[in-house]
Amino acid sequence: MLKVNEHFLQLPGSYLFSEIARRVGAYRASKPEADIISLGIGDVTRPLVPSVIRALHEAVEEQAGEKTFRGYGPEQGYGFLREAIAGHYARRRQVALQPDEIFVSDGAKSDTGNIGDIFAPDAVVAVCDPVYPVYVDTSAMTGRAGTYGKDGRWSRLIYLPCSRDNGFCPQLPGPHDPVPDLIYLCFPNNPTGAAIKADALRDWVDYALRHGSVILYDAAYEAYITEDIPHSIFEIEGARSCAIEFGSFSKLAGFTGLRLAFTVMPHDLRVGGVSLNKLWNRRQTTKFNGASYLAQKAGEAVYTEPGQREIAEVIAYYQQNARQIRQGLSDLGLEASGGVNAPYIWLRTPDNTSSWDFFDTLLQQAQVVGTPGSGFGPGGEGYFRLTAFGSHARTAEAMDRIRRLFVG
Ligand code: MLT
Repeated sequence: MLKVNEHFLQLPGSYLFSEIARRVGAYRASKPEADIISLGIGDVTRPLVPSVIRALHEAVEEQAGEKTFRGYGPEQGYGFLREAIAGHYARRRQVALQPDEIFVSDGAKSDTGNIGDIFAPDAVVAVCDPVYPVYVDTSAMTGRAGTYGKDGRWSRLIYLPCSRDNGFCPQLPGPHDPVPDLIYLCFPNNPTGAAIKADALRDWVDYALRHGSVILYDAAYEAYITEDIPHSIFEIEGARSCAIEFGSFSKLAGFTGLRLAFTVMPHDLRVGGVSLNKLWNRRQTTKFNGASYLAQKAGEAVYTEPGQREIAEVIAYYQQNARQIRQGLSDLGLEASGGVNAPYIWLRTPDNTSSWDFFDTLLQQAQVVGTPGSGFGPGGEGYFRLTAFGSHARTAEAMDRIRRLFVG
């Protein structure tokens, strides 16, 4: 008899951001006049930059001409974009990549979720706690996470605690701890906004090399780094033999609606003698028909000189919001971190209020939406995430409302 994939039945309720949207929708229905400010999901608000818009128009025109029309492109991405990305890594990070080590896709969310396809079903996965829920939920869908406990933990996942005690940066497993096969790391971090220094990242690379683990490195927020720390795991020696990196145009250049990302699979990366680049290529050519030509032409424009200048201005705009939010929270005596190398500010809820209670209070009394820390895992309980992706005016208004809520 046909059965569903029963691993899905283990998943709690709904995906975090769907649950938030549901709660906000219910509140809006009961208070249609409410002026709600969303600093919840990390979605950008600034328009695409002129270079990108120009490239999009040109690509549309090409699609209108018989000689320039394009149908299916290479599943791995067009050469022009893979070369532009490799060029950027070489220029900005002194990281040498071959264009065929770069696989263009429609999103880092899909890639970080789909990557599990090329590993054994019983691979042991380690995640930070708190963590971007995609890594956990997709591990659960394949059965790798085991069973979901009442304490909000999955039985087969290895949790790497990230707390204020370790600066929200996970420590290596000890000599007697189980060894993970796959280690998801995201830096600058979603949700805590913490960044990782070169020494700490080197420790993880050395650990992975020693134990034959693979690091799945989500670098979606690297463009927000302001300090002298690695933007790419491939800045660390040895990483080419133990790491896969995920890049995204969403927060880099405002492509959350346009959709474009890439995954770096170095040729040196082998598991049991098998090239992961070859396996991922096999997976992508079978299950994916490539990102749209329009999005890829837009992506190419991001790496031009004017494109780089223009996106730097937009990133600086959001960074100003991040500073304002963090400062505003600190002025209220609240414990806040992040926001320096990341567009996320991680706030300790006052008086040990639970994350969801704080969410409801903020929504109902200030009409401000954030993201409850516990939605990112048990280690996020008692925390709350605000994003810097609003407009200056709406961010200032949100901070004003939060201030009024605390000081009257
Ligand atoms: C977030 O808010 O955590 C992110 O925007 C979600 C995502 O990138 O998928």
